Amino acid sequence: MKFKKVVLLGGGVLGTQIALMSAYTGHDTTIWLRSEGSIGRTEPKIQYYTKSILDALEEAKKFVGNPLGAYVYPKALISDWKGITVEKIDELIREGEKNMKENLHLELDKEKALKNADIAIEAMAENTEEKIEFYKNISEILEDKTILCTNSSTLLPSTFAQYTGRPEKYMALHFANSIWSHNTAECMGHEGTDPEIYKEVVEFAKEINMVPIELHKEQPGYVLNSLLVPLLDAGQSLWARGIADPETIDNAWRIGTGAPVGPFQMMDVIGLKTVSNVLKMKPDAKDPESITCRLIKMIDEKIDKGELGIVSGKGFYSYTK
Ligand SMILES: NC(=O)c1ccc[n+]([C@@H]2O[C@H](COP(=O)([O-])OP(=O)(O)OC[C@H]3O[C@@H](n4cnc5c(N)ncnc54)[C@H](O)[C@@H]3O)[C@@H](O)[C@H]2O)c1
Repeated sequence: MKFKKVVLLGGGVLGTQIALMSAYTGHDTTIWLRSEGSIGRTEPKIQYYTKSILDALEEAKKFVGNPLGAYVYPKALISDWKGITVEKIDELIREGEKNMKENLHLELDKEKALKNADIAIEAMAENTEEKIEFYKNISEILEDKTILCTNSSTLLPSTFAQYTGRPEKYMALHFANSIWSHNTAECMGHEGTDPEIYKEVVEFAKEINMVPIELHKEQPGYVLNSLLVPLLDAGQSLWARGIADPETIDNAWRIGTGAPVGPFQMMDVIGLKTVSNVLKMKPDAKDPESITCRLIKMIDEKIDKGELGIVSGKGFYSYTK
């Protein structure tokens, strides 16, 4: 293991998940938090995601010997499904629980948290000004050897590189939600990132059981959302313009491409509230003539009926037994 000490800057939804995967894979991991209040908010998240990770392993036991197992097993938690047994999963549960407990620490003091860090991953809320202030502040604390990454979903590393005091050691390392099963880590430098540092970050992603997705240039939305967003947009537009209903659109995509799910099934997983919020951020959201405005109305009608997606048992599809 090359990376001995890992620091997460921010302990929200993603910071906690990344920290747990880092601890699970045996890395000494510290989450830096800005206040006592943050500790109160982060501790329940650690408990919640620890349980989610252990539950995912328990669930995987049901698929031992089932051909479906190879598709659904939690890929970041079990490195090799071939030859897996219930006993081996039990061993992973024991070891994983111990690692997550013993390797994960919370720290309020920035200097203490960052001391001797090999890599620090910023996972603070998506606010450009606050991130800039924060980078300026830690640039004086970071040790020379520390690689600095951002997990930002929508902001580019070139926006921040100049404030980090180490642009050559700074880049994006972007994780997906439910990191233990959706284990992509999109690696994206800016023009000034040292190629050797980039390679080290790719290695770090592998060390914590992620599949590195290597981008050669900056791209808003990285690879995954650059593919996913146009697909969701196209499905929504076909529905809002009355061309076809959600089930038909999903069928066309699934049967025609062999993909396991269609865009409306994906939206049920994402949750219709998030889908609506994203639509409301579009520039034409308030134009009553626009397709976006029509879509918001159609989605919000479902939300008003409590149809929020898988989470409420009904969205575009019904998930009750
Ligand atoms: N939620 C997702 O699905 C997801 C997926 C991939 C990437 N991301 C990215 O990860 C980052 C964090 O997202 P999240 O969903 O975990 O957010 P969150 O709101 O759950 O957590 C944000 C954390 O940052 C801390 N924070 C906020 N402002 C701060 C400040 N000024 N100084 C210090 N700490 C501060 C909060 O206390 C909290 O611990 C964002 O850049 C987001 O784009 C999120």
